[in-house]
Amino acid sequence: MSKTPEPYCWPHKHLLGLQDLSAEDIRFVLQTAVGFLEVSTRSVKKVPALRGKVVANLFMEDSTRTRSSFTLAASRLSADVIDLSGKGSSISKGETLRDTGRNIEAMGIDAIVCRHPLSGAAVQLSRAVNCSVVNAGDGQHEHPTQGLLDIFTIARQLGRTDFDLTDITVAIVGDITHSRVARSNLYGLLKLGATVVLVGPPTLLPRAFADLGCELSYSLDDVLDRVDVLNMLRIQFERLTSQAFPSVREYATSFGLTTKRLARAKPDVVVMHPGPINRGIELDSQVADGPNSVILSQVSHGLAVRMAVLYLVSGAKHQADLL
Ligand code: NCD
Repeated sequence: MSKTPEPYCWPHKHLLGLQDLSAEDIRFVLQTAVGFLEVSTRSVKKVPALRGKVVANLFMEDSTRTRSSFTLAASRLSADVIDLSGKGSSISKGETLRDTGRNIEAMGIDAIVCRHPLSGAAVQLSRAVNCSVVNAGDGQHEHPTQGLLDIFTIARQLGRTDFDLTDITVAIVGDITHSRVARSNLYGLLKLGATVVLVGPPTLLPRAFADLGCELSYSLDDVLDRVDVLNMLRIQFERLTSQAFPSVREYATSFGLTTKRLARAKPDVVVMHPGPINRGIELDSQVADGPNSVILSQVSHGLAVRMAVLYLVSGAKHQADLL
């Protein structure tokens, strides 16, 4: 006798990276985010989903967008939020990540949102504490909520309401080596069926990425006319340990998205950037602020996606539990 399949239940206590999620998990978070997008359009932008829960933002690296987006997401879900950063906390006195995590958890925290300059820090923290950990970017490893919000934006822009990205080609352009955004996008996009081309100078584009199932190109001009999405990455100057290209001007000449280059792409190509933008390097201002750019939608979608993530890691299993 055939059994009725069990309804899908969100199985994860933490969100550490998109490499750990299945295509079904990713679709589920994104579908949950669709529900939260509507909340942001109401005059009263709050739901009681996480009332009585406490979220701690533990940011040991600079951030504007991600940090404020998580704070706002938690407060729209009615959670209490505490903000901790490396500067001005005991972290600058030499406290370990494990001790910091365990001490803030002892105050009754339900989830820690962690940004850290070292790859693997979020995984390490998740092993030290009993509460949920959400990775808000760890070194060059992963930035899963940025990956999710980028995928959400691509799918909505291209009308893929089911989040199936088959037949969509996404170019991720720039400093791939040091980019956690590139890695999270790559894992998520491939799982949802997209074709991904990583584009950059050989010094910033390790060949090993090809083993993950994507294409590599050292020339933006070669791929321009066949991609549906151009996700332009910031050069991670703070992570460069040696000179990766002769000069910034030379980089911009080969890999910057200028109006002239954009004219050679598909007319409705979707232009993205995770921010902060180095205007005139990765993108010309006319392109960043032009009709193909969805950069500000990425920011708005980020809020809905982070609401969905905080809601799910806090124990919600079904979208029916929502609101
Ligand atoms: C990204 C990050 O911090 O990795 N920015 C962000 O989260 N908005 C990308 C970057 O800093 O280049």
